[in-house]
Amino acid sequence: MTNSTQTKLYPEIIEFIEECLTREHPESYLISILHKLQERHGYLTREHMYEVAQRLQVPASVVSGVSTFYHFFRLKPRGRYAISICLGTACFVKGADKILEAFRKKLGINMGETTKDGLFSLENTRCLGVCGLAPVVTINDKIYSRVTPQQVPDLLSRALAD
Ligand code: FES
Repeated sequence: MTNSTQTKLYPEIIEFIEECLTREHPESYLISILHKLQERHGYLTREHMYEVAQRLQVPASVVSGVSTFYHFFRLKPRGRYAISICLGTACFVKGADKILEAFRKKLGINMGETTKDGLFSLENTRCLGVCGLAPVVTINDKIYSRVTPQQVPDLLSRALAD
């Protein structure tokens, strides 16, 4: 289908798909391909998904179904500061839902959305393996522990000051 002038995919992703096609059950590598693509581009676009489907010779509906089913795939660009609120059990029982509510109110966005200025996105995450520090929030690569809803404005100011 695609020649080099039409492709929307990155060369290393095309190379990886071609390598998968030489293996048994290439379609079983779909999640790995989408992970690599998201790592490279930040999120999955409709054009990317369509081209992955074409190259991997699977229906486009399968690629879009997998991309929307798994919470770790992003279908929209992330903000400059990606705020993840751990909604694992330990964090949840310590009030993660109230922290999420405080972020939602302060930023005016829901989970999975990005502020209009492109600065902040709200995401959820499963257990980060530091349950003793619950409830936990990450902003990009920084971890904040025992967060309270009252700390939310301060966390946002600190992110902007970094
Ligand atoms: S449940 Fe949040 S870190 Fe484990």
